[in-house]
This record gives sequence, C-alpha cells and structure tokens, in this order.
Amino acid sequence: MAHDKPGAERMEKIVSLCKRRGFIFQSGEIYGGLNGFWDYGPLGTELKRNLKDFWWRRMVQERDDVVGMDGSILMNRQIWAASGHEETFSDPMVDCRICKSRLRADQLQEKEGRKQCSVCGSFDLTEPRAFNLMFKTYVGATEDESAITYLRPETAQAIFVQFKNILEVSRKKLPFGIAQVGKAFRNEINPRNFTFRSREFEQMELEYFCRPEQGPELLEYWLEERLKFYSDIGISRDLLHVHKIPPEECAHYSKGTYDIEFAFPFGIQELEGVAYRTDYDLTQHQKASGKSLEYFDEESKQRFIPHVVEPSAGVDRTTLALICAGFDEERVIDESGKAETRTLLRFHPRMAPIKCGVFPLLKNNVRLVRQARDIVDLLRPHMMVFYDESGAIGRRYRRQDEVGTPFGVTVDFDTIGENGPANEGTVTIRERDSMKQQRVGIGEIKPFLIEKIH
Ligand code: GAP
Repeated sequence: MAHDKPGAERMEKIVSLCKRRGFIFQSGEIYGGLNGFWDYGPLGTELKRNLKDFWWRRMVQERDDVVGMDGSILMNRQIWAASGHEETFSDPMVDCRICKSRLRADQLQEKEGRKQCSVCGSFDLTEPRAFNLMFKTYVGATEDESAITYLRPETAQAIFVQFKNILEVSRKKLPFGIAQVGKAFRNEINPRNFTFRSREFEQMELEYFCRPEQGPELLEYWLEERLKFYSDIGISRDLLHVHKIPPEECAHYSKGTYDIEFAFPFGIQELEGVAYRTDYDLTQHQKASGKSLEYFDEESKQRFIPHVVEPSAGVDRTTLALICAGFDEERVIDESGKAETRTLLRFHPRMAPIKCGVFPLLKNNVRLVRQARDIVDLLRPHMMVFYDESGAIGRRYRRQDEVGTPFGVTVDFDTIGENGPANEGTVTIRERDSMKQQRVGIGEIKPFLIEKIH
C-alpha cells in the first residue's frame, strides 16, 4: 500500500485533528484502547449521522422501489452456515517466528520471491492458514456447541432471510430493494489506517432484487447512482476510482463487481462494493431452511428466485473519506496583518456537523448577545448551530473553519442599529471556504441556510 511521506504526514495531521476537536477517539482510551475499535466524539457522531441520514433519504425515502429494515446483530447460526461464512469467510494468516506478530499473508511485501514480516523484516514465517473473521459468542446460559453464534460480519444476510416477509408486507413488485444500515464485526488480523480497517464498523447496504435478465443492466445503474451519491456529499469524482474486478477474482457466485475506491492519504482504497450476486444468497437460504424464497410473477405466472444487485458501503470509511477530502491548510493574513495557517475541513454543508456558528461581536454587550441568542433559537429547530461569544471574532471563525462549519452569522453594531438605521436588522453571513461576507436581513438567514444544507 502506498504510504508516502506527504501522505503519512497528512494522515497524522488528520488523526490529530480528529482527536483534538472531538471527531474520533481510541475506544476506551483511558485503559489503553482496544486495537481496531473507535469511539466517535460529539462532532464525529454528527458527521456520521448526517451521512447515514442522507444515504437513507437517497436510497429509501426518495424512492418508490426501496423499503428499509433493521435486523438483529446476532442471528441463528444456520444463517452463517448457509451463506458460506462459516466455511469460507477467512483471511490467510501467517505468524512471524522471530517477533511473534500475526500478519495477513496477502498484505505482505515480497523480496526475491519470499514474503517478509512487515514488523521486524524477518523471512521466518509460518505457512499461511485460514483465519475465520467472525467473532464467536454464546447465546444463553450454556457455553456449549449448540449455543454458538457469531456477531454478524455484514448486514446483508438479515435482508436475505427476511426477503419473504418483507415482500409480503410491502407488496412490492420486482425490481425492488431492501436497505439496511447497521453494525458489522470482523476480527480483522491487522486493523489499520485509523478507522479504515476496524473490527467493529457500520455498513449501509442495499439488496436490489430483480429478474435474472435485469441483473447486468442494474449493476451499471447502481454504480452510476452510487457515484452520484458521493458527488452529492462533496466527494469529488477526481478523488474516486472505479475498479472493475476481473472475472477470475470475483466471488464464484458474482457475475460482476465494481469497487468504488477513494484516494486516501495512505493510498487508493475501497469505499464500497457494487456486486451482482445472482440468486446465490436466496438459493442458499431456501435450500438450508427448506422455506420457499421464490417470487411469483403474476404476469407470466412463473415462480423463480430473484437475482440481486448489492451496493454495499462502509459508514466509517466514508466518514473518514469525508474528513480526508475536506482537510485543507492554507496561508492567510490575519486581522493584524500576520501570515498564519488556516486549517479547515471543507465539508459539503449537507454533511457538516455544525451548519452555522452564531457570534455576537462582543460578549459584554447585552443587546448584541440577546439578538445572537434569538437567532440561535430561530435556527435550532432546523439545524445544528453553535453559539460562541468568547475571544476575538477572527479566532471564533478559525475554530469553526477547523471543524468544517460552512457558515457563520455575526451580530454587530449595525444589526442593533447603533450605526444608524441603514443596516439595522441585518447580520453578516460569512462563508467558510471563500471567507466572503454578505449582509442579509435576519428573516433571510433561515431560508438561506436551509436551501444550502438540504
Ligand atoms: N455484503 C457485502 C459486503 O459486506 P464487503 O466488501 O466485505 O462486502 C462492504 O464490505 C463495505 O463494508 C466495504 O466496502 C467497506 O466500506 C466496509 N467494510 C468492510 N470491512 C470493513 C472493516 N474492517 N472496517 C471498516 N469498514 C469495512
């Protein structure tokens, strides 16, 4: 994986900003953390929520042909046997005999045809063996074989096993989809690159069921829809790569897979997979459960197992991509004429954790403060706002730039009519990226912002 020096430095700055400003912390940090697990702080939680809400809106609420579900994390073990996860959901693992590290064989560098330990550089490695990535647990009070199940390694299987129930209650006709957002768990051998490869993460998955002959076309359709989604959340197309998986590398049941990849500072890596999975999953569950998962087509009077196209995205990876895409540093001249570095997150207003900062010019002027507080009350039912009265106004702008707040409203002496009637009842709205300011009437603030953040 490319991890050049500027990339590593940029990533270091991003990780430090995430901690300093409360986006992402090590899980249970005061106890030394737990490798592969992360906690989202106040701003990270808002960012992630905005992403999931927008995905849900685009993929479910704005469509006639998709419904949602929310499945359980622990499910009957037979599901994982039927889906193939018990047998084959594994990565090849090797042990280094010198430093005792456990490593993923397929991620090791080779030197003169021999795999090398990425920790100590030794070539003294064991033969690769399959390591199943599912976390095992027991359900109920007895810890025996019959009580075993797994934390789900993907949300998709809950959709397949509820296909019949949802088909019946939603009364949808093919093609139609079932969407789900939720946690998934994988006991990754080498969690790395901050939240990119974690052991606990969230997925946003759609299983879009169709007639067999519609599969190839729908694969292309969903690829385009998903690319549009990324552009709508502010990830520009030039940071994305579409990787068509060669047929010989696709899963045996797949008739085509695209990976949508993002240019992270640590290399170009997968954000989402869009896969045409044929009728594999439903067929497997029909066989194993003995329950029909067929669809009855009223027009042709035929019964068949639908095929499925699956766009499967990672919440945490996309959140990290939003942060990496938005992170920027620029040289600016401050109010006293000194050059300084402005750090900012150029989030799309839709994704920004805080949509608007509200600032009274001075905190010891009762009228300025009261007016600013009134504006907060006006905006708060519609968006996340942040009230800040402490420090020089330039500092307050910088603090919001650094967490990606796209707009700042400042209440000054013009607003309260102390400089004459001309600008009374108006405020300045400052735009984060251009730093340009415009005066608008107090009544215009809400529609102006709502239009931008929707
Ligand atoms: N149902 C198909 C499926 O789960 P996948 O490619 O294994 O396919 C889909 O996972 C997405 O889930 C990935 O593109 C990635 O965004 C996210 N994901 C998978 N493993 C992850 C991990 N260890 N940490 C963070 N995100 C992960």
